[in-house]
This record gives sequence, C-alpha cells and structure tokens, in this order.
Amino acid sequence: MQILVVDDDLDLLEELTHVLQEEKYKVDTAADGEQALDKLFEHLYDIVLLDIMLPKIDGLTVLKEMRQNQINTPVLMLTAKGDVDDKIKGLDSGADDYLAKPFDMAELMARIRALLRRSGENKDIHLRIDAIDLNTKTRQVTKVGKPIEELDEDIVELIQSIAVGLLATTIFLVWLSYMIAGKVLKPIRTINSLAREINDKTLNKRIPLGEHQDELYMLASSLNQMFDRLQYSFQRQKEFIASASHELKTPITLLLIFMEGAIHRENLPAKFRQRLIRHTDILRRMRRLVKNLLDLSILELKDSVESEKVCLFELVQFVVEEYQEVFAAKKINLELDLTTDVNIVGDRERLQRCLINLVDNALKYNVDGGEIKIKLFEEEDDKVHLSLFNTGPGIPRDDLERVFEQFYRVEKSRSIQYGGSGLGLCIVKRIIELHGGKIYIESEQGAWTRVHIILPKTRRG
Ligand SMILES: Nc1ncnc2c1ncn2[C@@H]1O[C@H](COP(=O)(O)OP(=O)(O)OP(=O)(O)O)[C@@H](O)[C@H]1O
Ligand SMILES: [Mg+2]
Repeated sequence: MQILVVDDDLDLLEELTHVLQEEKYKVDTAADGEQALDKLFEHLYDIVLLDIMLPKIDGLTVLKEMRQNQINTPVLMLTAKGDVDDKIKGLDSGADDYLAKPFDMAELMARIRALLRRSGENKDIHLRIDAIDLNTKTRQVTKVGKPIEELDEDIVELIQSIAVGLLATTIFLVWLSYMIAGKVLKPIRTINSLAREINDKTLNKRIPLGEHQDELYMLASSLNQMFDRLQYSFQRQKEFIASASHELKTPITLLLIFMEGAIHRENLPAKFRQRLIRHTDILRRMRRLVKNLLDLSILELKDSVESEKVCLFELVQFVVEEYQEVFAAKKINLELDLTTDVNIVGDRERLQRCLINLVDNALKYNVDGGEIKIKLFEEEDDKVHLSLFNTGPGIPRDDLERVFEQFYRVEKSRSIQYGGSGLGLCIVKRIIELHGGKIYIESEQGAWTRVHIILPKTRRG
C-alpha cells in the first residue's frame, strides 16, 4: 500500500513517514501543494494524508484539482483547523475523512485502515461489452483500455501509422519486385542480345543452354533449332548458286569456242559476221558474270583463306603491268607510291583478284587522259594501308555504302556504257573481310574516288 503524506511541517512529515513505514506502508512525501499535485498526476496512491494550510497551493485546492482530474484516491485531511466549518469545507471538496491536529497516532492508523477498507469495498465495477468498458464508479467509458474521448486522436494516429506502413510496404514491394524482375529477366536479356548478335555472317553461333531444363532452356533451344534451319537453308542457297554457276561455265565456254571459230570462217556474209561478233561479246560478259557469281558464292561458303607470305609491293606491280596496254590506250597517267617489302600473310590469288577488280574499276570509271594513284605503306599496329585514287565521274555520297552490295551499280547508264555486273566490289569486300581487314571508299559526284584498304600483316580473318 502506498501513501502520500502532504505537509509543510517537515518534522511532522518525518515522524509520520517513520510511523507509517513501521506499519509496512510505502510512504511518499510532498512539502507543498504544487509538489503534491505533481506526484498525484504521476503515481497512483492508495491513500493521501493532506494538510490544508500548504505553501503554493493550499490543500483544499489540491483536493478539488484531484477530483476534477478523476483522481479518486481516498483523502484524509490533516489540519490544525478543527472547527466544523473547515471540516464541512474539506469534506465538500472531496475529502473522505478528517483528522484535527494534534492527533493520536493510533487513531490515525485506525482511520487509514478504515479508509483503505472502504476504498477496497468501493472498488471500481466494470461493465464490458466487447471492447467497450463502463467504469460504474468513475462513469467513464473506455474502448480498448482508453477513454472514448481520446479515440479520435488514436484513430488519427492509427490512420497515420497505417499510411506510413502502407507506404513503406509499397516501397519495399516495388523494390522487391524490381529485384525479382531483374533476376528473372536477366537470362531473357542474355538470350535477346545473343539472338541479336547472330546474323547471316555469324549463323554458326548458338545461344548457350542453361543448366536447368526450364522455360528459358526451351526458348534458347527452340531459337538454336531455328538458327540450325536458317544456317542449313543459307548454306543450301550458297551451294545452289555455286553449283548453278559452275554448271553454266562449261556450256558458255563451249559456245564461246564455237562462236569465236565461226567468226573467223571465210565466206561469211558481213552482216552475219557482225551479229556473231555482237553475240560473242554478250557471251563473254555472261562468262564474266558467271565467273564472278561462282567466285562470290565460294567466298561466301568460306570461313578463312589460304595463309602464305604475300609481298603486296610485288603484287601491285604485277597487276599494274598486266594493265599497261589499257593505261596506254586510255592515256591514263599512273603514279605509284609504294613502300617496298610490304608483306602480309594471306591468300595471294584472292588478293590479286582484289587488286585486279580495283584497278579495273579505276580504269573503267575514269576519263581518257585521267589519273590513277596507288599508294602502299605500313601503318602502326602491324597494319598495311593500300589506297587507289582515280579521276572520273566519282560516286555520289548516297551510293558510297551501297556499291559494296551485290549487283549494285551507280546509275544504270554506267553499266550499259561500261558493261559491269556489279559484283566486283562485293567480291573485294568479302576477300578483305576474310583477311580480317576493312575497306572503305571516299568520293562524291565529279570528284576523285579514293578506295582505302587496311589489312593486318599477320592476323587472318
Ligand atoms: N573507282 C571507281 N570510280 C568510280 N566509280 C566506281 C569505282 N569503283 C566502283 N565504282 C562504281 O561502283 C559500282 C560498283 O562497282 P563494282 O566493281 O562492284 O561493279 P561493276 O564494276 O559495275 O561490275 P564488275 O566489277 O562486276 O564487272 C560501279 O557500277 C561504279 O559505278
Ligand atoms: Mg568493277
């Protein structure tokens, strides 16, 4: 049992504390009204011994404050004032008993016990319906242990907590789904980027299959099967072109031999001879086209080329000499700027084919009395640079990239005039690629055409 003793007489306070503690009560003390109220608001006491004449706030005011604030602890007034009026005032203010000073300790103890007994009998009776609680003594209604009037604040607090909780949960869920989605989508991204990498040039590449035979495994293996089929039909297509051109070569050659023989026969009418010459020309162009087609399809089927030591300096000189007569006939001035002893590892025959095609173009798409410059030098990083410059009609900027496509010719009229099939540069590009090099052309309408080839000295494509 805990008792609060409020008195400004410190000797009395000490004495009372001593006696009450002897009786096994826990004792707390206050020397003025303000201190008493502070303690009453903080702790729950079983009984209060309250003096009336107190500094700061008098006892009667303390009593009124207590009762107004629902502190229903039994109060025993202890005062020097012993007249009836004071007793009435005290009891009216909410005191439970009254004892005038000086008092007998035994009487005080008896009154304390009586008060405690009464307060025990007078314990709060609670009526409960679900979470609603009615205190019959204080007439206070509470819900979930709180006075109903405080519920508004609680509801606001509850809503705030739910909102904060929901927000935190949403953020967490968004983050979690982002992480999970990232993890789930990673293999799909890998499959996607690998599938993008595979094109007609890299059709032998395949998507690596995962360890588990799940949906992604099935997707990757279906894509791989599709690439198998594509590779097979690409291969068949290339083989078909190669076989068709090969099959055409012999009959065309036979026809040419026959036609060339027929032209030289005696007693042929002049008109008929002219027609034979024209058709022989057509046959020669056809033979050239078939040869180009065959070469290109064979190159397309290849992954690599021969590797032997090739001296590019000698190769250029050889090709240029082959074309000496054409240079002279077209009065084209040739300027050579060649570094001697430039060697690379590659396929001599095919590199020669490249040079022939390029020199052929530089001569064909030139003007009489025009110019050609050929330059050969070594670059840093073990690379060789070969460039061919020629005067002539030039290539319009828009056509620059397309001239490497099969059968692409700048302006149809040029092909009629020059008789090209549009496969020369395509073959050159493929040969350079097979050597691990690159080719590009700089030109514009009416300007010099500048063809650049960069080849690695040792690496093969
Ligand atoms: N050095 C060049 N100067 C100007 N135009 C060029 C040059 N080289 C190529 N071209 C243009 O690019 C086109 C494609 O050239 P490519 O060598 O591939 O085919 P082609 O010469 O027409 O035929 P082919 O070489 O198969 O006999 C040509 O039609 C030509 O208009
Ligand atoms: Mg050509």
